[in-house]
Amino acid sequence: MTSPSLVRASASTAPDFADTAVVEWVQQIAETTRPERVVWCDGSVRERDELLRGLVRTGTLLQVNPDLRPYSFVARSHPEDVARVEDRTFLCTERKADAGPTNNWEEPARMRARLDELFQGSMRGRTLYVVPFSIGPIGSPLARLGVQVTDSPYVVVSMGIMTRMGADALRAIRPDTTWVRAAHTVGCPLEPGQADTPWPCNATKYISHFPESREIWSYGSAYGGNALLAKKSFALRIASVLARDEGWLAEHMLILKLTSPDGKVFHLAAAFPSACGKTNLAMLQPTLPGWSVETIGDDIAWMRVDELGRLRAINPEAGFFGVAPGTSTATNPVAMDTMWGNTIFTNVAMREDGDVWWEGMTTTPPSGLVDWQGTPWTPASGRPAAHPNARFTVAARQCPTIASDWEDPAGVVIDAIVFGGRRASNVPLVVEAKSWEHGVFLGATISSERTAASGGTAGELERDPFAMRAFCGYNMADYFGHWLEIGKTMRARGGVPRMFQVNWFRKDDDGSFLWPGFGENIRALAWMTERIRGVVRARDTALGLMPLDGDVNLDGTGVDAGTWAKLNAIDLDRWRAEADSIERFFATFGGRVPEALYRQLHRLRDALGDPA
Ligand code: PEP
Ligand code: NA
Ligand code: MN
Repeated sequence: MTSPSLVRASASTAPDFADTAVVEWVQQIAETTRPERVVWCDGSVRERDELLRGLVRTGTLLQVNPDLRPYSFVARSHPEDVARVEDRTFLCTERKADAGPTNNWEEPARMRARLDELFQGSMRGRTLYVVPFSIGPIGSPLARLGVQVTDSPYVVVSMGIMTRMGADALRAIRPDTTWVRAAHTVGCPLEPGQADTPWPCNATKYISHFPESREIWSYGSAYGGNALLAKKSFALRIASVLARDEGWLAEHMLILKLTSPDGKVFHLAAAFPSACGKTNLAMLQPTLPGWSVETIGDDIAWMRVDELGRLRAINPEAGFFGVAPGTSTATNPVAMDTMWGNTIFTNVAMREDGDVWWEGMTTTPPSGLVDWQGTPWTPASGRPAAHPNARFTVAARQCPTIASDWEDPAGVVIDAIVFGGRRASNVPLVVEAKSWEHGVFLGATISSERTAASGGTAGELERDPFAMRAFCGYNMADYFGHWLEIGKTMRARGGVPRMFQVNWFRKDDDGSFLWPGFGENIRALAWMTERIRGVVRARDTALGLMPLDGDVNLDGTGVDAGTWAKLNAIDLDRWRAEADSIERFFATFGGRVPEALYRQLHRLRDALGDPA
């Protein structure tokens, strides 16, 4: 039998500073799952080295050529364990309405019974790792603590990148601390003498959340969002419930710091559905001279209202778990520089020289590639070399544009909140909300056109409110209400950030993009800062406040007056149909959508006028 890692015998006992409740919970899980040994992770470099060596020995990780990319590794997953499994992700609340309608609901008692059975002996022949972690800088008033137990050393090293993991987090858990229990198993016990596989997992998967008891139970997958439970499961699904109860916001948002040529600093938080370029925007390289963008986070923002009524945000994560395909020195040079080394890649292709490759990294693929499953690949193979959801996992501190204040325990003051989707039609480049309520309406109605790839009827709108459809841990209509409440709290204390809607993806009739995107997006961001400073006026339209011609600097973009007009066109008929689609969407919440959002819908309809 292959041993999953070299572990020190002394590591098997709980550190003396571990809180009794943690020790008892770990014992309980170990009694159920029957691992061969228990290891308490301390987060040290030595521990990480040992885990990585073990993962290379068992074949889970391949080392990238260290002369080209030091201390980096490639994991090849099981071919059916490559992405989040939304249909196997559950919210278990006493009342069904508290989870609905965007989550799969299950009765807590029934799910517990099922999980109890599945977890029985599930770690036999494996090591149970105890992974204490802090989400957010340890000691920040916004940070939260948790403990994940897992039988996957790949998950341990990934959690070591994505969170503040180890002894300091464990020390911070005291008898009166509220901490989240996160139990994870790949569900693949080893019988004595049975050889392990590089990526153990189970065809049966359950990613289960119990927000009422602050627990997560994940079975059968080792993939990112299913298994790194600090990320989507805790920092969004469980945290959104904590945020509702405690009056703050846990959001699927990037955070960036923008500095204007005259040295004024602005912080933006922006929500986009998956695969709309959050990581690219967070690492934007401005094409406008004198502007700079620094990165604070690329996926999650935790925000609360401070004493002065300002919204303060932290990036609760310590690393990036980014989509590799499409990332290149042209589209995101900062991400490319970030992963110079110390990076774990999952499901990328490998080059003859032992470095990594994925679609879009270079315009033509190098020869001699091996695909994400380890099979020789040529462009004639008729399938992608890297999995379309191939990932890089890398520490945020390696990012060359990381802001100096990215770990400030107090967080940064948010000046603007931005919502975006991927819309080929209808939605203009940039619109400012007329009020907080209008901004909440824009967030609640974020949408993308379905593509052939995402299933359904092509062109049909897919609503992803606040980009949280898959991540909100309670009733989404109540979540809209929570956003409206936060606005009232800020208004009462004096500070409300501006809200904007953007769309980088509008297309011309011939199917080509109207807007160059990427580094040119600075032009829309610059206009936002001018609105915040009150130095430009705006056009009052049915959709909101839009730029006056000439106020968005287009010099050097190749966007001419005709293209600019198309980017900003409002087709009244199509928008009347869009209003109907929003009404149908609101109706799916069974009367729970707050009145204020219906008022916004009526205002939109009034502004669009009657059909001619
Ligand atoms: C994930 O799939 O684990 C993940 C982080 O999701 P996404 O990139 O879609 O937000
Ligand atoms: Na995914
Ligand atoms: Mn995400």
